[in-house]
Amino acid sequence: MSGDLTQTSIADALTGRFGSPLRFHESIGSTNSDALAWAVEGAPEGALVVAEHQTNGRGRWGRSWVSEPGHLLQFSLVLRPKFSLDKMGLLTTAVGLATAEGVEDSAGIKTGIKWPNDVMVVERKLSGVLVETRMLDESVDAAIVGVGINVGWTESDVPANISERATSIAIWAEEPVPRPALLAAVLLRLETYYDELAAGRVEPILDGAADRSVVLGREVVARFIDGSFLIGRALSLTTTGALEIEVEGESRTLNVGEIEQLR
Ligand code: BTN
Repeated sequence: MSGDLTQTSIADALTGRFGSPLRFHESIGSTNSDALAWAVEGAPEGALVVAEHQTNGRGRWGRSWVSEPGHLLQFSLVLRPKFSLDKMGLLTTAVGLATAEGVEDSAGIKTGIKWPNDVMVVERKLSGVLVETRMLDESVDAAIVGVGINVGWTESDVPANISERATSIAIWAEEPVPRPALLAAVLLRLETYYDELAAGRVEPILDGAADRSVVLGREVVARFIDGSFLIGRALSLTTTGALEIEVEGESRTLNVGEIEQLR
């Protein structure tokens, strides 16, 4: 176990304004689904759903997310952004950055970010982020920020189907990292970046994400959900969180996509 997760251990660890009210489940389908349903019922900004286990955890592009009791930190936060829809891309950038920094704060591990927001340690994925937006009357009613972090797996017990591309905090950290403290560190970082975004200050997010990027300056293959792809050189992050790449001498802006190969 990587630090027991209970309603009390979580509530005791949290120091900021995110995480109240709090729901903890031993097992649930998906924390994102639960948080979304809660948002529809009126959950306020900062409401947090944490689960020890997800039976139907979701990843990007309809993929499933591998969960195993005791080994992960999985949560979804309800936000009620006042900023416009075009800032939502940067919110997902901010969540990746906050997760990377929260891991570093609590575990002392150097982390990178693979655009748009996978947190990486030495080219393997440590954490995935799924931000889902609920629109109402053409404005953002709620954003559900879902984060999964692999915490307790050692080299030998990362599930076989993801062992070639996934890693875990326990493989790299000198000391075990209690999950409530990790959660608190990530939420605190996110609070700061969320406030910056709300105040219209995008530079701290863009600079932080660029500094940690494992993509910028490299030759990349960008894949899209329809199976198409582009090969080019990653140039920069735009003010909306998009990735600018150079393809055969021309600049292309990617709002969605996955970087699958790095050279
Ligand atoms: C990805 O890398 O594709 C995103 C993975 C996001 C997983 C987290 S775990 C907590 C939250 N609940 C979900 O169903 N998904 C997100």
